[in-house]
Amino acid sequence: MLKDKTIVLGVTGGIAAYKAADLASKLIQAGAKVEVVMTEAATKFVAPLTFRAITNRPVVTGMFDMASEWSIEHVSLAEAADIIVIAPATADIIAKLAAGIADEMILSTVLATKAPVIIAPAMDVNMFENSVTQENIARLKARSFIIIETGYGRLASGKVGRGRLVENEKIIGTVHMVLGCKGDLAGKKIVVTAGGTEEPIDPVRVITNRSSGKMGYAIAEAARDRGAEVRLISAAHHQPDLVGMKIVRVHTAVEMKEAVTKSLKGAHALIMAAAVADYQAKKVAKEKIKKTGASLTLELVQTPDILGEVRGNFIKVGFAAESENLVENAAKKLQKKQLDFIVANDITDASSGFGVDTNKVTIIDSKGKADRLPLMNKREVADKILDRVVKKIK
Ligand code: CTP
Repeated sequence: MLKDKTIVLGVTGGIAAYKAADLASKLIQAGAKVEVVMTEAATKFVAPLTFRAITNRPVVTGMFDMASEWSIEHVSLAEAADIIVIAPATADIIAKLAAGIADEMILSTVLATKAPVIIAPAMDVNMFENSVTQENIARLKARSFIIIETGYGRLASGKVGRGRLVENEKIIGTVHMVLGCKGDLAGKKIVVTAGGTEEPIDPVRVITNRSSGKMGYAIAEAARDRGAEVRLISAAHHQPDLVGMKIVRVHTAVEMKEAVTKSLKGAHALIMAAAVADYQAKKVAKEKIKKTGASLTLELVQTPDILGEVRGNFIKVGFAAESENLVENAAKKLQKKQLDFIVANDITDASSGFGVDTNKVTIIDSKGKADRLPLMNKREVADKILDRVVKKIK
């Protein structure tokens, strides 16, 4: 999605500047053209040559940098940019931006651009929490700058607190979200579920399944990148948070049903990628069950069928993980749960389904038409599913 996009990456002089090299590399790998602009202080932390080698483009380090091909650089960079990302952004650059000062290249490029500007602050906790910095950040937010929350953790000073540069994945997620905000799902609310629910037996043990949550997360991410307002109901606790959406974390099928029902208000589609446990313990033991030497019988009762029970004026998409008679079994579920379409995958195929990054699915619509897709990565599958949702919504 970043193909043919020009990203101006402003790097300012903080210890986190080295992380911007990896950010530039990842943006390039995602297909973007990256133009790096560095403050003089940043060049003390990382050599411009590093960025030059990564981006294969000249790096702008000064206001009148004749080594670069940009003519009146800040104006041409500002016009070429689809988006500007300042990472890391020091307290100093944030203060100058808030005051409208433009005494170096990043600042003057920002002043001259119409492109959206993302700022990823990084500084010591005391500087970050200082009311002056907080006021400056508030001013920039009010002027539609997109400020990414700082991370919490160990800082270069040895202190622990807020002020860390967020992970590059979150910065890249924000870039995708901002660039995709006018996509074909703009103004649409999509509820997605992901992961395998966990049904407790006692305070220590649960019944669960092999679902990793990758397919649901790929759908949530793809929907966000196409402009949707996404609500992700997740039972996939190993998956890192995605930016730009509300994530509700749940454990059991009952909790998931409650979260889904609440989230469906105003929704245009529900995509149930979660592997919801079909059974839960009839009684959850209050204390840890001890072994007695004898065999143990657990009584299980059915969980609520979320997809089968929710009603409303939204598109319903189900998943079916099948080990035999893929199309027939999936079509039966589609009928029973009154779905708009169902995404069936063959779990006997090792490259498809649980835990892996790829999936080979067959999409079956309410008329019974089956569309067998080749092996793709889950993000590509997600977009194929969303293509159908878009068609149905319109
Ligand atoms: N599903 C659900 N609530 C459940 C079980 C499943 O909402 N309690 C949803 C799943 O998220 C999936 C679809 O229903 O989108 C089909 O799930 P699956 O478990 O394959 O279907 P079941 O109806 O449970 O049929 P079976 O387990 O007998 O194959």
